Amino acid sequence: MRLQGKITAITGAGRGIGRAAAELFAREGAKVAILELDEKSGKDAEATIRKSGGTAQFIRTDVSNEESVRTAFTEVDRVFGGLHVLYNNASVYLGKHDTSVTKLPSEIWRRVLGINLDSVYLCSKYAIPIMIRCGGGSVINTSSSAGQIGIPFCDAYTATKGGTTTLTRSMAVEYGPHGVRTNCIAPAAIATDMVRESNTSSPDFDEKLFIRSTPLRRWGTPGEIAKIALFLASDDSSYMNGAVLVADGGITLVCAYHNNPELPEGRPGLK
Ligand SMILES: NC(=O)c1ccc[n+]([C@@H]2O[C@H](COP(=O)([O-])OP(=O)(O)OC[C@H]3O[C@@H](n4cnc5c(N)ncnc54)[C@H](O)[C@@H]3O)[C@@H](O)[C@H]2O)c1
Repeated sequence: MRLQGKITAITGAGRGIGRAAAELFAREGAKVAILELDEKSGKDAEATIRKSGGTAQFIRTDVSNEESVRTAFTEVDRVFGGLHVLYNNASVYLGKHDTSVTKLPSEIWRRVLGINLDSVYLCSKYAIPIMIRCGGGSVINTSSSAGQIGIPFCDAYTATKGGTTTLTRSMAVEYGPHGVRTNCIAPAAIATDMVRESNTSSPDFDEKLFIRSTPLRRWGTPGEIAKIALFLASDDSSYMNGAVLVADGGITLVCAYHNNPELPEGRPGLK
């Protein structure tokens, strides 16, 4: 029961990593606010947690919309009477629609920036004052390998994840003195619907090559990231502030997977 008595809010908790974290946080004694756009999965997450004896409340939220976010945190405060943990998890990855800057339509750029980066600003803006009032807490942001190295051909996504990584560091300095720690998880290659709907459904996706490029030779699971979020949410990480925890099976280190047929061939010159 590492989160006994803690009030937590997780964005995008209807499926994937956010869902795994919501269920784990509830098992560890937390009250969980599920801030999710998709009503069906959000309600399902709430019902699953309640059925197993946990405490959860689905609050339909569009994390890219300021009024929706403001209302959501007012509701979290009303229902649970405070907040200790904000897990900024919701994002979109638009696969083929998100590409290199010269081809990227501005609507896609704005949509991805809104959901992935404005959301971190907006949720933090309305959550942190409640956390400070409650004596402090933990903000967990979600970056990606894209925010570590910059992944080509998804420039909007990459920009949001780079922004999230550096925003984590400035927030850590700004709110640390108020007792609010801010850290970030940078996953890659986690088997979720986000990946199924983008990478793996693409005809030029070579799964064998992808797995061979991953030092651990397998996909990660949502539960493996949820356990890192649990660590950052709990007092076990009480002296961590401004950290970026990379959880990617080592794929970012080798950075080998890049097989885009649009790019020109190189010029072999060794022999
Ligand atoms: N899966 C991976 O390999 C991977 C790699 C790097 C980073 N990440 C990051 O991890 C996080 C979770 O990824 P996932 O794979 O579980 O994704 P997912 O697509 O499976 O889940 C994302 C959730 O966010 C919700 N959501 C989308 N737009 C929303 C909005 N406007 N308001 C509220 N909720 C919204 C979706 O409905 C969904 O439930 C994301 O930030 C993602 O960028 C994932």
